[in-house]
Amino acid sequence: MVGWSHPHKTDLTPMRLAILADIHGNIHALQAVAHKLNQLQPDAVIVLGDIINAVPFSSQVVDFLQQTDWIILRGNHEFYYLDFVGGRAPVDWQDPMRWGQLHWLAEHISPTQGAYLAALPDELSLFYPDAEPILLTHGVPGNNRFGFSTDMSAERIALTLKDVSFATFINAHTHQQIDRIVAMSSSKMEESADPTFYLEGGKHQNTKKWHFINPGSVGLPLNGDTRAQFAIIENIAPEAIHGGWRVSHYRVDYDRRPALAGFFESGMLEAGGVISELFYWELVTAHREIPYFFQWRRANLPPNNGLSFDEEFQAYKDATERHEFIRQRDPLQKIYGR
Ligand SMILES: [Fe+2]
Ligand SMILES: [Fe+2]
Repeated sequence: MVGWSHPHKTDLTPMRLAILADIHGNIHALQAVAHKLNQLQPDAVIVLGDIINAVPFSSQVVDFLQQTDWIILRGNHEFYYLDFVGGRAPVDWQDPMRWGQLHWLAEHISPTQGAYLAALPDELSLFYPDAEPILLTHGVPGNNRFGFSTDMSAERIALTLKDVSFATFINAHTHQQIDRIVAMSSSKMEESADPTFYLEGGKHQNTKKWHFINPGSVGLPLNGDTRAQFAIIENIAPEAIHGGWRVSHYRVDYDRRPALAGFFESGMLEAGGVISELFYWELVTAHREIPYFFQWRRANLPPNNGLSFDEEFQAYKDATERHEFIRQRDPLQKIYGR
C-alpha cells in the first residue's frame, strides 16, 4: 500500500513478531520452537492455524497454546474437526477406512477444547504504531484451503491477492517458507473492479505489489527439511523493503522420534489407516506424501475400480516402492521393521 508513509517520523519503534503456522499436533516441534522463542524474545507471537491433526498430540498442543498470550488463528484442519463433530461434514466422512484419522482426532479433543477451536478467528490485521499494516490468514481471504507454493508464478499469486489492500500479506497452509515480492502487471490491473485501484495519492500507479510471506510449518514441514520452521518479522522503513517488514526464517532441529512413536503408542496409526500412515511418511520425509499418493491414484486407477482405499494404497506401494524410500529414512526404523 504505497500511501502509508510517515513523512515526519525518523525513528521507528522496533517491533519483532514471531509467526508460527501448521503445528499439526506436533507438541515436540512446538516445544523446540517455544524454547527458541524464549531466546529471541519477540514482542508478540502469532499462529496461523492448522494447530491440530496429523501428529497425535493435538490435545496437548491446544492445552499448550491456551496457556500462552499468543494470537491464534484457525486453519482448514480446525474446520475438518469442527465440521465433523458439528454434523456439517459430508456423509462419506463417516467411512472409517478413509476418515479414521479424523474419527480418532474427534475422540481425543475435549468438548472444552472444541469450544475454543470453534471461536478462533480466521483472519487478523495488524496496525501497530510506526509500522505498516499487515494482513494474516491461514490460506487466502475467504478460502482456508488454498495456499501459495514456492513454484507458483508471481502472476497467479498477484491475481489471487488483487483485492488485498495490505502491502504485506502473510499466510501458511503449504508448509513451505516463502519470502517474495509479487507484482501485478498493468494489463492485469485492468481486470480489477475497484475504482480506487488506479489512484494512490493522486498519482497513477503502474503496479500493485505485495510482500508475501509464509513462515513454513512448525510440526509438518513439506519443503524437504524436517526441522521445525517459523519466521520472525521486523518493521523497517518501507523504502527499504516494500511493505516495511523484513523476514528472517528459522529452522530448529529437534528429536522427531517421540512424535513418530506417538503414532504407534496413541493407537492413531491403527485407527487412522492410510491417511495416518501418510502423515507418518510426511513427518519422516518432509515431502508431500499425501498429494503424491492422490496424484498417483488419479493417474493410474480409474474411478470405481473395485478396490478399497486400503487396496489402492497397497497398489501404490507395489507400483512405486515409496514405502522403501520411507523405511530408509525413518529415524525410528519402526514402521516397516528391519
Ligand atoms: Fe497445514
Ligand atoms: Fe492448511
